[in-house]
Amino acid sequence: MDDRFNTIAGWVLFAGIVALGSSIVAGEMFHSERPEKMGYPIEGVVQEGEGGGAEAEQPIEFYLAKADPAKGQQVFNKCAACHNAEKGGANQLGPNLWDIIDEPIAQGKAGFAFSDPLKKIGGTWNWDNLSKWLDSPKTFAPGTKMTFAGLSNPQDRADVIAFLNAHSDAPRPLPAAPTATAAGEGPGNGPQKAEKEPVLTEQQTGANPKNVGGEGAPKVAGPASTATKKP
Ligand code: HEC
Repeated sequence: MDDRFNTIAGWVLFAGIVALGSSIVAGEMFHSERPEKMGYPIEGVVQEGEGGGAEAEQPIEFYLAKADPAKGQQVFNKCAACHNAEKGGANQLGPNLWDIIDEPIAQGKAGFAFSDPLKKIGGTWNWDNLSKWLDSPKTFAPGTKMTFAGLSNPQDRADVIAFLNAHSDAPRPLPAAPTATAAGEGPGNGPQKAEKEPVLTEQQTGANPKNVGGEGAPKVAGPASTATKKP
């Protein structure tokens, strides 16, 4: 019995040693270090972000040229908590927005109490300053009463401006996209400059051999060599 007990105890001890040893070895082998960058980088997403940042926003006229007042009505749902754009509509938390294009900034109707920061802006509402205002009211008029974060999407702004423009007795024609004229000028300027440059280089190459011949390289070398010889 004692022998058998010792044998069993021996195997148990041995198994324990093996288990302990293998756990140490496994710990060494699978020891993982904290990666410098956490998470899994997804290339497409990173590139998309970089591309979005690099993409310059076009002037608002570009988006107004394809603006849709019907879509603007949906965007206006975000404004409707504080504004209406109906003729003779009541001021709410924000002023009535009927016929806002070309209206003096912070004039409003029926005596809406505008904030001083907006009153100080001056001028009249147009495509450009409406777009900037709606992009970020806080940036346009720091301290404004319009507690609205803004519409970061330029097409949303153009659509809602087109919607507001339609809420007038005399809606203005939406501006044409400025890129059309810019694109027409671009290629015209490019080739003209390019045509001039080869002419200049041809003249230069024609003149260069004369210059090379006229260079007083030997003359310069002559006095220089005599000068070294003299002393
Ligand atoms: C939380 C309420 C609120 C929301 C939402 C809001 N506005 Fe306003 N809005 C105001 C207030 C208040 C003013 C007056 C600001 C001041 O006096 O500083 C104002 C002013 C304006 C003005 C200037 C009016 C004038 O006669 O000079 C325009 C234009 C305007 N808002 C358009 C919008 C549009 C478009 C949206 C939606 C995209 C919107 N607002 C969303 C509250 C709001």
